[in-house]
Amino acid sequence: MKIGRNDPCPCGSGLKFKKCCLQKEKDVDTYLRDIYYKKHKIRIKNDQEIRGIRKAGQLVLKTLDLVEKEIRPGITTEYINTLVHDFTIQNNAVPAPLNYNGFPKSVCISVNEVICHGIPSERVLAEGDIVNVDVTSILDGYYADSSKTFLVGRVSEQAEKITQVALQSLKLGMDQVKSGATVGDIGWAIQSYAESRNCSVVREMVGHGVGIEFHEPPQIPHVGKRGEGIVLVPGMVFTIEPMINLGSRDLKILDDNWTAVTKDGSLSAQFEQTMVVTEEGYESLTPYPFEIRAS
Ligand code: MF3
Ligand code: CO
Ligand code: CO
Repeated sequence: MKIGRNDPCPCGSGLKFKKCCLQKEKDVDTYLRDIYYKKHKIRIKNDQEIRGIRKAGQLVLKTLDLVEKEIRPGITTEYINTLVHDFTIQNNAVPAPLNYNGFPKSVCISVNEVICHGIPSERVLAEGDIVNVDVTSILDGYYADSSKTFLVGRVSEQAEKITQVALQSLKLGMDQVKSGATVGDIGWAIQSYAESRNCSVVREMVGHGVGIEFHEPPQIPHVGKRGEGIVLVPGMVFTIEPMINLGSRDLKILDDNWTAVTKDGSLSAQFEQTMVVTEEGYESLTPYPFEIRAS
């Protein structure tokens, strides 16, 4: 860990760490775990918990692969919901979205101007659509959360662009993750890249701690300033899931109280992975390559 025995104590007493809180704890790991819980309600995960989330993540990835093979013009988003639901249950897992705060389906499916939290329906996918499928599975009590935006057949240059920018935003955000970096570094990397491509970053929805529950502290905004916010430490597990719009960042929520759409009707795309902070960087618990395959 990063705090030395002779460094100032992180509790802010002004004493050396060894003369202050370190004395009260068995070791630095236990100390950090307690401080992060007391100060931020962040549950730093142990190795057993990380193994559980990794296993849930492998199932989420298999589910996304299954969906990817089925994406084509003519299918309904309800069909994808059934695929995800049945596959999850067959694998002794539970689809986390179903009944979560009243969400009526097993997966979020967000087409074109839908930013996130789209509800599967009889809507038929058409050539040229872009569709985000956001899968969260609970396996042996552990949650993993990941999404991809798929291209339906041949799409416009604009659709291709926003999807690429969203994917690269996730990658650049993840590149910041390592012990000692801050939550603000992640948002800064995403915001500066996305805005440099003349795209905008949604503020209302954020990445989040995950693993023991669906949404845990901390929040991970996709905008921010370098060096600001909570310091990342090994064993923190969270998502990064930037929602990037081609037009303005403003959104509205439809009458179903879930579907978030761009106010100006412009396209929006998103990619999400769950990761654990390590000393040197991160390990993705839902790892997929940063490339978009045509369907
Ligand atoms: N999977 C979404 C996320 O990335 C949350 C969906 S909540 C639901 O955080 F209720 F809409 F499923
Ligand atoms: Co999430
Ligand atoms: Co998600």
